[in-house]
Amino acid sequence: MNAPDFATADFSQGLAAKERHFLELDQIPAEALRRIVDEAQRRKRARLGAPKGLRDDRLGLTAPLEGRALAMVFEKPSTRTRVSFDMAMRQLGGETLVLNAQDLQLGRGESVSDTAQVLSGYVDGVMLRTFRPETLAEMAEHATVPVINGLTDRSHPCQILADILTFEEARGPIKGARLAWTGDGNNVAATFVQAAAAFEFELAIACPPELDPDPTIVAAARDRGAQVEILRDAAAAVAGADAVITDTWLSMNDPQDVRESRHRALQPYQVDAALMAKAKADAIFLHCLPAHRGEEATAEVMDGSQSVIFTEAENRMHAQKAILLWCFGAL
Ligand code: CP
Ligand code: NVA
Repeated sequence: MNAPDFATADFSQGLAAKERHFLELDQIPAEALRRIVDEAQRRKRARLGAPKGLRDDRLGLTAPLEGRALAMVFEKPSTRTRVSFDMAMRQLGGETLVLNAQDLQLGRGESVSDTAQVLSGYVDGVMLRTFRPETLAEMAEHATVPVINGLTDRSHPCQILADILTFEEARGPIKGARLAWTGDGNNVAATFVQAAAAFEFELAIACPPELDPDPTIVAAARDRGAQVEILRDAAAAVAGADAVITDTWLSMNDPQDVRESRHRALQPYQVDAALMAKAKADAIFLHCLPAHRGEEATAEVMDGSQSVIFTEAENRMHAQKAILLWCFGAL
């Protein structure tokens, strides 16, 4: 059975009133995405200096996910997504189960649709990190609880909302800002393309032609009014940027045997101090992590004064709290 297409399918059929899946940024109204980032910022500010394990209702906020359990299914490794979702649920009063897909019958060929229906009987939500976007679509189609995209080969929407929160904390409103991506036009780059339409920032991507971001995502974003340029020259993309962004040269879905050719193709797109100097003087450097110092960015940049990578990692937790509230109809 073919999974439904993200661009056209209605995945919300099995959900209770007010519950929603969080699958692709271009399926979610811009107003809702804005509300999610604002709520993340509000809750983050209210937690300043508080112990991380303290529930939000001990800080004068609400913790409306008491009694809710989120299953997190991982087909790929994770540090940030796994720990930040776990702590996000705890702070909101809920609980999590971490499930390695290889330990589930899913890993032995049980169908995604049966898994979705079975999990829906036990837990209140499912976060899935998977390879094929079709697997995520199938999970959402058959689950009767909210499904959250924890990264696919196609996109990484939780990351990009955390990045927008990080940008706005450092530089103010993202609307009208210029963001530059240099390197592989991968899942994270493609999600920035989706976000450019909703948050109305300019996006310049520099990459070799064979590593362009998914052209269907770029075309859909441009149809929605996104200002996205695809360039071949890193310096041109970065010129005058408010943020410089890159990611690993080899993603989790890439075969190891492309390593050498990737490195050759992407060397001119490395973020070093000279490239950073072409951006605005107060530009920030973003990287979703995990990083490889000396490859996609030099250690000087990664650990330099313009880098906000560890705030960005922390912000995954704050952004996901707001995503969870939105999925469960509490935002
Ligand atoms: N950035 C990110 O998603 O990190 P993990 O792979 O560690 O979850
Ligand atoms: N592009 C990377 C992001 C990791 C968080 C990958 O898919 O491996």
